[in-house]
Amino acid sequence: MKAAQLTKYGRNFRIGINSLSLPSVGSHDVQVKVIYAGVNPLDNLIARGTMKLLVPYRLPQTMGNEFVGRITRVGDDVQNFHVGERVFARMPLDRIGAFAEDAIINSAAITRVPECFTDEEAATIPLTALTAMQALDLMDVEPGKTLFISGGTGSFGAMAIPIAVAKGLTVIVSGSARNKDTVMKLGVSRFIDYRKEDYSQELSHIDLAIDTLGGKELEKQMSILKPHGTIVSLRAMPNAEFARREHMGKAKELLFKLASAQVERMAKKYHVHYHFMNVDANGQQLHEAAEILAHAHVHPLHGDVFSLNQTKEAMDRVARGHNRGKILLKLSE
Ligand SMILES: NC(=O)c1ccc[n+]([C@@H]2O[C@H](COP(=O)([O-])OP(=O)(O)OC[C@H]3O[C@@H](n4cnc5c(N)ncnc54)[C@H](OP(=O)(O)O)[C@@H]3O)[C@@H](O)[C@H]2O)c1
Repeated sequence: MKAAQLTKYGRNFRIGINSLSLPSVGSHDVQVKVIYAGVNPLDNLIARGTMKLLVPYRLPQTMGNEFVGRITRVGDDVQNFHVGERVFARMPLDRIGAFAEDAIINSAAITRVPECFTDEEAATIPLTALTAMQALDLMDVEPGKTLFISGGTGSFGAMAIPIAVAKGLTVIVSGSARNKDTVMKLGVSRFIDYRKEDYSQELSHIDLAIDTLGGKELEKQMSILKPHGTIVSLRAMPNAEFARREHMGKAKELLFKLASAQVERMAKKYHVHYHFMNVDANGQQLHEAAEILAHAHVHPLHGDVFSLNQTKEAMDRVARGHNRGKILLKLSE
């Protein structure tokens, strides 16, 4: 099979298109003929080496975190999936490999794609829908509460907004004016154009926030929360609680405790709860998210479609930003 592999880490990372023999299919695994793979900011973080502390990949590493495809083989102990079924998944972070003609994945990480989604739509869903589900699980979500999503006009917002709305939250989003209409249609109550308005001057007493921006934006988001409000960051600093939740061991717990000391002090200053998260693979939870999205008649936009040979170009396009809809790789018909 052909696969896009990371052959050099760093700012000038290298991606090679290599011919590989098929990896073996474990007893709990399925083999999937990939139709489309979604390209995410995470792929660039991995390639640049930013994720090395969380997962030190040995190179060459087949890239790609999410796909839609059809099952071509099932492991001996897989009971609930069959050859020919259309499935999608966020691949487990320690076993990625969606930028390939074939992917091998534990069956616990996949779920069937609801009929209402095209292949392209399905490819945009797994990673960001699971991120939304897991971020909301970390919060005390109750109908009627208000959620602020910074940078909610991208691929993450496209999933997080309808899922949060379905859970009864009032959603406020900051982001790109170009995507305002799209997010308003998803149920956003208030939109803040990040180039013209400063949400920290406009908002206060917010219950919950999901941060996709990190940096200086983190403190601004803490400042708009109610006392005892909660912020989940997808972008800022991992902390000790994250290391414990992910069973990363005492050494990383201590490391992240030290690294996040400033963020934790900030959270104390504003009397808010700070969480960091990194999205996990989870077939059952993806099934629940897909049901919510199907019920809400969500049809996510996708951006430009690239071939496997153009993987580096697709990743560069994601890194440049300003896209409308998720960038996809097309692997097969
Ligand atoms: N930790 C995790 O598990 C996890 C999971 C999923 C995503 N993430 C992270 O979440 C972030 C967003 O992901 P995505 O896939 O949604 O990216 P995306 O599709 O590129 O969307 C980002 C959106 O944010 C907007 N934006 C840029 N700067 C902004 C600012 N200062 N204020 C408000 N909005 C701004 C962009 O608008 P423009 O068009 O103007 O650029 C764009 O609409 C990424 O950093 C990604 O790594 C983390």
